[in-house]
Amino acid sequence: MDKKELINSGKVKSVFTTENEDEVIIEFRDDMTAGDGARKEVMDKKGAYNATISAKIFKVLEENGVETQFIDLPEPNVMVAKKLEMIPIEVIVRNIATGSLVRNYPIEDGKKLDPPILQMDYKDDEYHDPMLNRSLIKALEIASDEEIEILIEKALKINEVLVKFFADAGIILVDFKVEFGKDKDGNILLGDEISPDGCRLWDSETLEMLDKELFRKGKDNEVMNAYIEVYNRIIPDEEKFDV
Ligand SMILES: Nc1ncnc2c1ncn2[C@@H]1O[C@H](COP(=O)(O)OP(=O)(O)OP(=O)(O)O)[C@@H](O)[C@H]1O
Ligand SMILES: [Mg+2]
Repeated sequence: MDKKELINSGKVKSVFTTENEDEVIIEFRDDMTAGDGARKEVMDKKGAYNATISAKIFKVLEENGVETQFIDLPEPNVMVAKKLEMIPIEVIVRNIATGSLVRNYPIEDGKKLDPPILQMDYKDDEYHDPMLNRSLIKALEIASDEEIEILIEKALKINEVLVKFFADAGIILVDFKVEFGKDKDGNILLGDEISPDGCRLWDSETLEMLDKELFRKGKDNEVMNAYIEVYNRIIPDEEKFDV
């Protein structure tokens, strides 16, 4: 399948139209950013690791009844996906308190959150992704009450499936961010990516970080090894790409 026109170039991915108007090609680039794009580095093969990890997770979610954008991964860093009209909400699920949560609220770092915290942020770097609530979502005309319920239900289901999936790989799913969009029939599907860029992942035994937090902390020379560790643990050998 050939790329036609670049329709969106974000901080880490480029989205292209294809000959099929209902599908897009998402190219995962090797860029890594932090601080709403304030800091940017290029990391060798990062796009391939993230696209392959995302594809695996989308397949696991589909097997568990969560509809996603995923169609195919023709190259390690290239995903064919359903074209979605993205909803500008970052739906965040937290199983352990850390990061901005403990900076902004009097919650102890590392506290287990059961039930998980579900948070929705307005996806807009210019406004620094401020937190939303139901009345803000309505006032901004981002989603209806019914759609908000669907987002919450889907995000919690994704959490349930992925907590187990990562636990089997010796990884704690601390928290994660997902984005949803509407397909041509108006169905709300999981879009974008699920990778160490948007998840906090800790080794179950040592609690060492296996995600982008390392880059945020300036540990640029450790971050790719963490991504590769996640990849090695969740991608079976026969599904690994040639390096
Ligand atoms: N299936 C899809 N169809 C259309 N667009 C998508 C799909 N999945 C993800 N996108 C969008 O692709 C864009 C590029 O992704 P990337 O993560 O690089 O961007 P970003 O920097 O997070 O976001 P933005 O450019 O919106 O600020 C994002 O806007 C994302 O919402
Ligand atoms: Mg993004």
